[in-house]
Amino acid sequence: MALLIRNGEIVTVGARVHGDIYVENETITQIGKNLEAPPDAEIIDATGKLVFPGFIDPHVHIYLPFMATFAKDTHETGSIAALIGGTTTYIEMCCPNRNDDALEGYQLWKSKAEGKSACDYAFHMSVTKFVKETESQLRQIVADGTASFKIFLAYKNFFGVDDGEMYQTLELAKRLRVIVTAHCENAELVARLQQKLLVEGKTGPEWHEPSRPESVEAEGTGRFATFLENTGATGYVVHLSCEKALRAALDAKSRGVKIHVESVLPHLLLDKSYAERPGVEGMKHVMSPPLRAKHNQAALWNALAAGSIDTIGTDHCPFDTEQKLLGKDSFVNIPNGIPGIEERVNLLYTHGVKRGRLDLDRFVDAASTRAAKLFGLFPRKGTIAVGSDADLVVYDTNYRGVVSAKAQHTNNDYNGFEGMPIEGRPSVVTVRGKVQVRDGKFVGERGRGKMLKREPTHF
Ligand code: URP
Ligand code: ZN
Ligand code: ZN
Repeated sequence: MALLIRNGEIVTVGARVHGDIYVENETITQIGKNLEAPPDAEIIDATGKLVFPGFIDPHVHIYLPFMATFAKDTHETGSIAALIGGTTTYIEMCCPNRNDDALEGYQLWKSKAEGKSACDYAFHMSVTKFVKETESQLRQIVADGTASFKIFLAYKNFFGVDDGEMYQTLELAKRLRVIVTAHCENAELVARLQQKLLVEGKTGPEWHEPSRPESVEAEGTGRFATFLENTGATGYVVHLSCEKALRAALDAKSRGVKIHVESVLPHLLLDKSYAERPGVEGMKHVMSPPLRAKHNQAALWNALAAGSIDTIGTDHCPFDTEQKLLGKDSFVNIPNGIPGIEERVNLLYTHGVKRGRLDLDRFVDAASTRAAKLFGLFPRKGTIAVGSDADLVVYDTNYRGVVSAKAQHTNNDYNGFEGMPIEGRPSVVTVRGKVQVRDGKFVGERGRGKMLKREPTHF
């Protein structure tokens, strides 16, 4: 069925126009004023509302065996949470560990999503070791449409790669023209500092941050950049959390290194005092890199506004209270991760655009368009244009609410952003022309989501 979205203010990177959007067969076919529609078309009145391209979360974990447990969401719960928050595409980290076969892992991750996700999705393929089969396996995975890799410099002996493996991955990525995303923390230093703190009897969640200080992340970021510089590959630093690491990335960029930067919502809005709360309240705010001293937030917001932080993701990774308590005797056993897929867009709009930290153009760019461009989805996703998929968010800027675990759709029993104000939310969200959300409620088709096949784009 055709769909006509009438009289909204259409916001894309570089343009804001009042008009109508007409959709046929999942695709935007006309943009203009006073468009006509057949009698059986679905009509949405967007008067007084903004219309954004569907938002893209470039960093989520849905299926994740990690730290002796599993992240809580499934593609059913995670995708509905995403859509209610305006995210119409997410890129999941496919994370087999060092002992797993990469290709089997890739098939397993795909099988968890297929027919289950209500929004579109893609994968970043983690390279967690580099052995003789790795090159041919990665070639098959890229040929299957997964044109981005992920490496972890942290999580020694589990997801982590050593420098030799990082070099081999980047060198292959350069030849295959795919981008490599990286978690940048020095694994050896983290392991040593964790042991030192535990020997001193420092076991609570407040010691998680001191076990992976800013310098450890800055070193990882700088080393990744140096390896990019010497292989010619294109890189993307995930969840950059602090000013020191930002400087390392921007310093490399100024030398001509092809390096891009993602920050995630927790690092913009929460600080390390949350992880210093007593007991399980602190554990709920343990993630890696850790929440940092508050002064870092201004540096991140400024770099985001300037575009030197490219994207904002979530690193969505829900563990419930019981799972967090696995670390009650030692912070090293607290499952790392904070959810956020449902809140990202509204919190970024409220605390970025509404608070004057971010203009609307950069907001759309950071939460949608830039990720589409970096990860081979543009212009199918990330914009509103004739020929693009009709992933659209009609946004109500008059909505007022607060984040609350009680109302959330992600599968968790708390919310790390509990009580934070929200000033705006999607009133209609479409995935390829089908209305999936109306005013905070999922009204659509479960399992509608498709895996997005992507071509390598990094020359
Ligand atoms: O704490 C985090 N970030 N958990 C998820 C795994 C990762 O490092 O992205
Ligand atoms: Zn990570
Ligand atoms: Zn992650």
